[in-house]
Amino acid sequence: MSGGGAGLPPDLAAVRALPKVDLHCHLDGAVRPATLLETARAGGVPLPADTVDALLPHVRVSPACRSLDDFLATFETFYPVLSVPGVMGRAARELLLDAADDGVVHVEARFCPDLQATPQRPAEDVVLEVLEGLARGSAESGVSYGAIVCAYRPFTVEANERMVDLALAFAGKGVVGVDLAGPESLPGAPFARALERAREGGLPVTIHAGEAAGPESVREALDVLGARRIGHGCAIARDEALLARVRDEAVPLECCVTSNLQTQAVASLDVHPFDAFRRAGLAVTLNTDDPAVSGVTLSDEYLLAARTWGLSLDDLRALALAAVDAAFLDDAARAALRRRVGAPS
Ligand code: ADE
Ligand code: ZN
Repeated sequence: MSGGGAGLPPDLAAVRALPKVDLHCHLDGAVRPATLLETARAGGVPLPADTVDALLPHVRVSPACRSLDDFLATFETFYPVLSVPGVMGRAARELLLDAADDGVVHVEARFCPDLQATPQRPAEDVVLEVLEGLARGSAESGVSYGAIVCAYRPFTVEANERMVDLALAFAGKGVVGVDLAGPESLPGAPFARALERAREGGLPVTIHAGEAAGPESVREALDVLGARRIGHGCAIARDEALLARVRDEAVPLECCVTSNLQTQAVASLDVHPFDAFRRAGLAVTLNTDDPAVSGVTLSDEYLLAARTWGLSLDDLRALALAAVDAAFLDDAARAALRRRVGAPS
């Protein structure tokens, strides 16, 4: 197989053939542009363009993006489309079909149901629709999945408590964890009680931290919010003691390299801490974040890492296995996924 030997630089075909796991993928950032266009038309929702090519500059992050806030502003263009009944369910199914096409065998898809709820459409309907779409997509593609319900930093404590209640209502029925997403300029501490209830109810917590904010946001995630995993965590590189702690406590990091460059969480690839984390023995994983908004696949991210840091196909397989170890799965499902990822491709 080309690019398949240990030590050789892998090529795209070899990376696509490698069974991979995406632990950090926002469903709302993964909707096919063609689906946005088609469903907006059917639902009577205006979009700024009426062909896929013309729509792309509006729904993909712009080269002028300078921050996480700029990045998140991109979503506003198409959020009204996602509130149309049926769209999130369709997007969920297509996410797993697209994952299969990219050699991804397991996806944890995250979304904040309140972002798609309307006065006519309760958040519970959004969750039901997404879980149905994921189940259908999984049956058709063979890609396994877990859903992560996001609390959202700009929302009230009460609203995020409702998100956690919803997550708990669907625990064991497709929902496997809870996240806190959104602008990191807003504190996470107000949601400590809600996230504690998630944990008490058996749902592990991952927190977006150390992306736009500094090391203190990662400490808050670990100490106040009970994070089992950290989304991004770039800022850990700026704090030696924290880095040692994250290593010693084996806290998995959900790294998303392209997204980090686009949000300017990290100034350039040269200074991205991914490989420093890996070499220091941290439990790093590679993920997409928002594949449609960022214009990437998981294979793109693996290939970028391989080319930037000289990783072999064996190194990439080790990254995929690290994601298996970090996935929100029970023992039997983790063992099955490990066999799938560890098997020769
Ligand atoms: N929602 C979608 N992408 C996100 C990111 N990178 N950080 C925080 N919230 C998000
Ligand atoms: Zn994210």
